[in-house]
Amino acid sequence: MGAGIGVEFLLAGREVTITEAGPEAADTARTRVTDSLRRTLRRRGHEEDEQEILSRLEILVGPAPVSDPELVVEAVPEDPELKKSVLLGAEVAYPRAGVLASNTSSLSISDLAGGLSEPERFIGMHFFNPVPVSQLVEIVVGEMTSPTTVETTRSLVELLGKTPVVVRDSPGFASSRLGIALGMEAIRMVEEEVASPSDIDQAMVLGYKHPIGPLRLTDLVGLDVRLAIAEYLSEQLGPRFAPPELLRRMVAEGRLGKKTGEGFYTW
Ligand SMILES: NC(=O)c1ccc[n+]([C@@H]2O[C@H](COP(=O)([O-])OP(=O)(O)OC[C@H]3O[C@@H](n4cnc5c(N)ncnc54)[C@H](O)[C@@H]3O)[C@@H](O)[C@H]2O)c1
Repeated sequence: MGAGIGVEFLLAGREVTITEAGPEAADTARTRVTDSLRRTLRRRGHEEDEQEILSRLEILVGPAPVSDPELVVEAVPEDPELKKSVLLGAEVAYPRAGVLASNTSSLSISDLAGGLSEPERFIGMHFFNPVPVSQLVEIVVGEMTSPTTVETTRSLVELLGKTPVVVRDSPGFASSRLGIALGMEAIRMVEEEVASPSDIDQAMVLGYKHPIGPLRLTDLVGLDVRLAIAEYLSEQLGPRFAPPELLRRMVAEGRLGKKTGEGFYTW
């Protein structure tokens, strides 16, 4: 996700610094950014000079010597303790950053802000995968986030040519909460033999103009990932999000969707 976010800001003409955990990860990050940039330029039919764009990219290990960055986005794995320590480090390294954001897809922004000395500058900037293809960025407003931070973040999202939606910090934000509700109901319908997975998906694609059906999407995201989110949401918001038995069984059997070759579909 960090590589995709970096590509978008490079294409918007900004200087981008990616800081990684170690030298190997930094090499991987460089390959990911270069590949993603190349694909994006080709898809958009842009004529920009790849070398000029890459000359504005720096990839380092540890805090980068950048003074007063406009935006710092944390995109480390979804582990609250890791995120909190990286965010604290970022606040110390960049005391005058305009906005400090987290790309968390599920964790509470107010909770992550806990140890920060200036939580008013902290916000959720939830990019979607793959970042250069997705139009949406969910802006998640924590209890302490200031209106100025919300407005600056909104402008940065618009600078990328993406559409921001502003959501109060609550479990699942807007996207995962609705997406999981639909996905879990579709799985319950398979369980109750209401229709086949492809017919359920077709009903949403042709009947409701969804670009992809909820079961195919579950296969793409990974059944294990969706199970973890459903468990979290049912803990936070109640049993209406409880994952169906069929989902638990498929995950236990290693049928995780596209990544294992088998899910609701054979890949
Ligand atoms: N993958 C998705 O579809 C998706 C979509 C939206 C949001 N997100 C969120 O984005 C975040 C990252 O997800 P991802 O899928 O890109 O994970 P990932 O595991 O692919 O990438 C995490 C990166 O963080 C680096 N990292 C780990 N510890 C670090 C540290 N201490 N300092 C600097 N870098 C460190 C790793 O080397 C790796 O490059 C998570 O919060 C996730 O929930 C993911």
